Amino acid sequence: MTQRRVRVAVVFGGRSSEHAISCVSAGSVLAHLDRDRFDVLPIGITREGAWVLGTSDPSDLAIRDRQLPAVDGAGDALVLPADPTRGGLVRLDVGRAGEALDGVDVVFPVLHGAFGEDGTVQGLLELAGIPYVGAGVFASAAGMDKEFTRKLLRADGLHVTDAVVLRPGTATLTSEQRDRLGLPAFVKPARGGSSVGITRVDDWAELATAVATAHAADPKVLVEAGVCGREIECGVLEFPDGRVEASLPAEIRLVAGGPAGWYDFDAKYLDDACEFDIPAKLDDDVSARLQAMAVAAFRALDCQGLARVDFFLGAEGTLTVNEVNTLPGFTPISMYPRMWAVTGLEYSTLLSTLVDTALARGTGLR
Ligand SMILES: Nc1ncnc2c1ncn2[C@@H]1O[C@H](COP(=O)(O)OP(=O)(O)O)[C@@H](O)[C@H]1O
Ligand SMILES: [Mg+2]
Repeated sequence: MTQRRVRVAVVFGGRSSEHAISCVSAGSVLAHLDRDRFDVLPIGITREGAWVLGTSDPSDLAIRDRQLPAVDGAGDALVLPADPTRGGLVRLDVGRAGEALDGVDVVFPVLHGAFGEDGTVQGLLELAGIPYVGAGVFASAAGMDKEFTRKLLRADGLHVTDAVVLRPGTATLTSEQRDRLGLPAFVKPARGGSSVGITRVDDWAELATAVATAHAADPKVLVEAGVCGREIECGVLEFPDGRVEASLPAEIRLVAGGPAGWYDFDAKYLDDACEFDIPAKLDDDVSARLQAMAVAAFRALDCQGLARVDFFLGAEGTLTVNEVNTLPGFTPISMYPRMWAVTGLEYSTLLSTLVDTALARGTGLR
């Protein structure tokens, strides 16, 4: 007798500035989920927040001629009631309103940024009683917020760069704070991603504009001391038996003369301005130290399932954690799946592991 396939809802799009990148990530996930094991249900969330039955054609979710994909909302309208007795997603269409969609065994939230990677969708899934891939409410919220990521990492002895938090109502730094941070500085939305809203400031005269740019994305802004170093990333993965392992690290380098001089949105996704060393060319001891720190960062935030931990490696060997991504990119060029591929876990196996780990955990307190 053949086993029933596991029903995986892949949720993508969403209300954050990373809507399009989420769609591209979902396109890759849809293309690589093992169809012998999984029935896949694509669920799009529009930029306005409407849930609809989405496209299952990965090619509809690719970047073409610099055009970014989006969830257009044309599919059947759905809602996920925060009520475990309803058995999952329910239709909203006239004539079929209230009809339950066939049971969903597990959700893969391929969502980046606010209202997706930040614990909100995870909270809804907890209430609905549906297992899901990745971190729970707490770690999702902690990893999304660069202020609290830093605090938790520092509390566990991991090195982070100096920063000042500008809360709503404060738009500038005191002269003491400027002296303390020095230049260059990086001005960021506290809960952003894909480099959206980030400015590198090389002269304090540029600060006001940079803060305004970050404010457009988030009322809370961070100004960070610039770190001079190589950008190295490391994937962390939890297996169904609870083992947590780090991938081989990888390095991102801007192609000489890269447009902005740092890893901004266009360099990341549009301009082919980055070169990747997967794995990174590192001494074995640096690589081992970095992997241990990546797992320590995963633990510091109480992550589950997966995370990509991003570092700066200084010339003297100092490792600074830049950020912890609890739902890292899964696009065809994204580092997380590529790092696992060179570590020996190819894309489909990686996805199966993530789903199996989510099913092994179930829902409830973690
Ligand atoms: N403190 C810093 N020092 C040097 N470069 C930085 C610093 N902060 C950010 N950057 C550059 O900006 C990029 C995006 O910043 P990051 O904090 O990773 O934001 P996001 O969450 O949007 O990816 C980094 O990959 C790096 O190139
Ligand atoms: Mg980043």
